[in-house]
This record gives sequence, C-alpha cells and structure tokens, in this order.
Amino acid sequence: MKVPVNALRAGLVFSKPVYIDTDNFLIPAGIELREKDIEQLRFWNIDEVETDGDILREPAAEVPNPGEAVPEEQPQEALMGRILPEDQKIALVFQNYKKFIKRIDDVFAGISSGAVPDARAITGMTDDLFQTIRKNRITTIGFILGSKPAGCNLAKSSINTAILSALISEKFGYLEQDMRQLITGALLHDVGMLKLPQEILTKREQLSPQEIRQIQGHPLHSYLVVCRELGFSEDVGRIVLQHHERWDGEGYPRRLRKKEIALDARIVSAADAFEAMVSEKPYRNSMIGYQAMKNILSDNSRRFDPEVLKSFIGIMGIYPIGSIICLNSGAVARVIGVREDVPLRPKIRLIIDEQGTAIQPEEQKVIDLLHEKSLFILKALDPKDFAKKNMNKGRAGENRAAAEVEAAGMRIIARNVRSPSGEVDLIALDKDTLVFIEVKAWSVYGIDNLPYGISQKKQRRIIETAKYFLSLHREYNGMAVRFDVIFIEPEKVTRLESAFTECL
Ligand SMILES: [Fe+2]
Repeated sequence: MKVPVNALRAGLVFSKPVYIDTDNFLIPAGIELREKDIEQLRFWNIDEVETDGDILREPAAEVPNPGEAVPEEQPQEALMGRILPEDQKIALVFQNYKKFIKRIDDVFAGISSGAVPDARAITGMTDDLFQTIRKNRITTIGFILGSKPAGCNLAKSSINTAILSALISEKFGYLEQDMRQLITGALLHDVGMLKLPQEILTKREQLSPQEIRQIQGHPLHSYLVVCRELGFSEDVGRIVLQHHERWDGEGYPRRLRKKEIALDARIVSAADAFEAMVSEKPYRNSMIGYQAMKNILSDNSRRFDPEVLKSFIGIMGIYPIGSIICLNSGAVARVIGVREDVPLRPKIRLIIDEQGTAIQPEEQKVIDLLHEKSLFILKALDPKDFAKKNMNKGRAGENRAAAEVEAAGMRIIARNVRSPSGEVDLIALDKDTLVFIEVKAWSVYGIDNLPYGISQKKQRRIIETAKYFLSLHREYNGMAVRFDVIFIEPEKVTRLESAFTECL
C-alpha cells in the first residue's frame, strides 16, 4: 500500500519494511518510525512511501519530551536507540545480570585484597538472583550461552553456575529455602581460587604437578572462606567443598563417590563444568553450547550424577536455544525452543533455505520438528564461524547497515576503514556531524543480547581508528563526532545513536 507522508506519525510500526522507492528503504519491519524519518522525507520532497505490511502499532498517546529526565530504572541503551518493548524487557534482565556480575566481582575484589567479607552482601545477592531466575528462566539461559560481558571471569562463572544450578534444582523439587542455599553455594564455589597465586590462574602453558595440586586445593579454601570467614552453614560449606568430587569417586579433595556427595554439590558440579566449557578461558577457546552438551552427555556416569544430567538436558536441550543447526534437507535453522522429553526435536526458525539462500527475516518459517517427521538435525554448526561466513558472503549484513544509515538521512563517506589499532565499518556524515559506525552482525551467541553495547576494548579500537582517520583527513577536523552502533539481526536492524562517547 502507498502511505502519504502527511499520514505518517512518529511511533508508527509496520509489519513489513517501508520503502521510499525501489532502491531505498525508510525503516525495517518492526521498527518505530521517528519524527526525524518524517522530517527527512519532507526535506527530500517525498509525498508518499510504500509498504506491503500493515500497521503493527500506533504511536503512544503521549510522546515523552526528549529533554525530560528519564527514570533511572530504564536501561540506558533503550534510550539511545529504537528498541522494541520485548527487547527492553530483555535489556532490563541483562542489565540486572551485568549488575549481579559486578556485585559479586566487588565482593571477590574485597576478599582478594584481604578485607573481611560481609555475608549480608552475599545473602542479598542470593535473594535477588533467586527472584530474577524465577521470573526470567529462558532469558537467563540465553545470557549464559550468549553474552560475553568483558572481564570478571570468576564473577561471571559464579553467576552463571548459580543460575544453572537453580534451574537444575527445580527439577528435583527444591523448596525455596533449599534453592537459596544452593544459590549461595554456587555463587561461592570457586571463591577459594582467590587464595591462589594469580600466575597460576592466568597461565596459558601446561601446569606443573605442583601447580595442579595447588589448584586442587581451592575447594578447601572455598570452604574456609564460606564457613569461617563468612559464617555460612556447613550445608553451604559442603557444596563448595565437594564441587570437584566425581560420581565415580575420582574427584577431589576427598574422593567421595555417588551419593556420598551432597546433591547440592552434584548439581553445582555439572553446572560449573558446563559453564566452564562455554566460557572463554585463557587456556582454551570456548566450546559452542552443543559441543559442551555433547561432552557432558558422553560422561557415562563418570563425572556427573546421571540424574542431575537428565535434569540438565531437560533444561538446556541437546541443542540449546540459540544453536545453529543443519537439517537433512540442507537448510540451516536456529533453535528457538526446546522440549525436555524430545531434546532432539526442538522448535526451529529457518534462516537459510535448501539452496543456500538466506531467507528474508519476515519470511523465516518456524518449524516444530516434533511434527515435521521428514526433517531431522544433521549437525550443529559453530555459530561464530557461521556468522562470519554469512557476513562475508556479499557483506550482506554491512549492506543492510548501510541501507539503514542512508535511510536515516546520513551520507556514507567511507567503508571498512582500517588503522593500526582497529577498524571502523562505516563512516558517515549526519548533517555536520561525522559518525563512526560499528556494525555488529548477529551471531547466535549474542542474538538476544545484541542491542546492549559493545566491549570497552572494541570501543577503544574504534576510537583509535577514528583518530587515525581524522589525522589523514584533515578536512573533517573540527567537526562534531559521534559513535553509533548498528545491530544486524535476522529479524531487524537497530541503530543506537551515540552508543558511546569520546571527544576527539
Ligand atoms: Fe572449582
């Protein structure tokens, strides 16, 4: 349908992309129309736009004044770009998730520096984490598999292990109080690591037998911190002390076997192992969710309690949510839902058809493999490689980003600018502002977390490259500078204006 520009209002959302003409689109499907978009159309003397879609959402009755103070609890990122309501919910949970990591990291920093830790900080975290997990089960799993908040490895691992442990314990019918105890133990399971020399923890080379013995002493250190320094109960102490015991009795420190090991500790052990496999450690690259699952499943009652594993599969699925899988038909799909009784037949969304052509986001079909008996999963693909290959193929993602930039009324002046310190994907002029744009392609790991910022390290590289560009192109010196980030997802393109700042 053709829509007169006079009928457009900021806040309108269409179910299909809105085009200015055959070559240029104004906004992607599902993205809110902004006042700025309408102004641009008027500026270009365009009278009407075209779309095959319908109006998905009308503008809210009250458009907030952009200068108005914003309530603190709103995620900062949501204010910078056009983020949809469901994303805002995920953004909030993700903000909380990052805050949890920060909170436990602060506690760990205190313990490392020899300060007497405060048990109340841990109890408060346990309560908050308990509530968050209860309300956002699937979303939190996505963070464990997907997000890589920079640094804070021990803190991240503690939070992830606590989330996974709590989810597993639901299957064992844990009551609230028991689950809180489990969360506390899971949060602190590796706290004893802080008592070990830093060189061992970051060492990339093979550890010596003596260093291995030192590392194996960490459950006992954890126990001492938990029970002596923090004053938690023996029940919590037992979790941290036994989290490296193995079902077959080959673990440490006491070579306990089977049910001699507390159920809490058996749960934390499986959660911790999975977490370690999917996280990046200095001494190895992270495994993809599917491989980690496969590794844990091939355990054959050696390391883990088979009952705990069964519950674990129930939660994660063999192909965890977010996995990219290849079907027997040759099509490629993303796992979007798992069912514990049929882990091999999840719900999927097709992203590449049998001929190898990427399917347009609005045409991607959702298939429930439970009902499509002729289809089955051939293998899991590494999402990182997949995303990379997909991006390189015709630079599809970058072209979508470029279209978004132009649709926003900016003019692209350079692409893929490299400097000794990094790269900037797009450089554009937005009236009298020079805009350096990072294009972030979706990868399954981060698909739910894409709209929430880029790492400090990446920011520094972009800023360095921007300085380098300005040193070579003096004609732009003195102009206002802005750093945007464009997120490319199968379903949509989102631009965050001034995603981070730096005065050049
Ligand atoms: Fe450990």
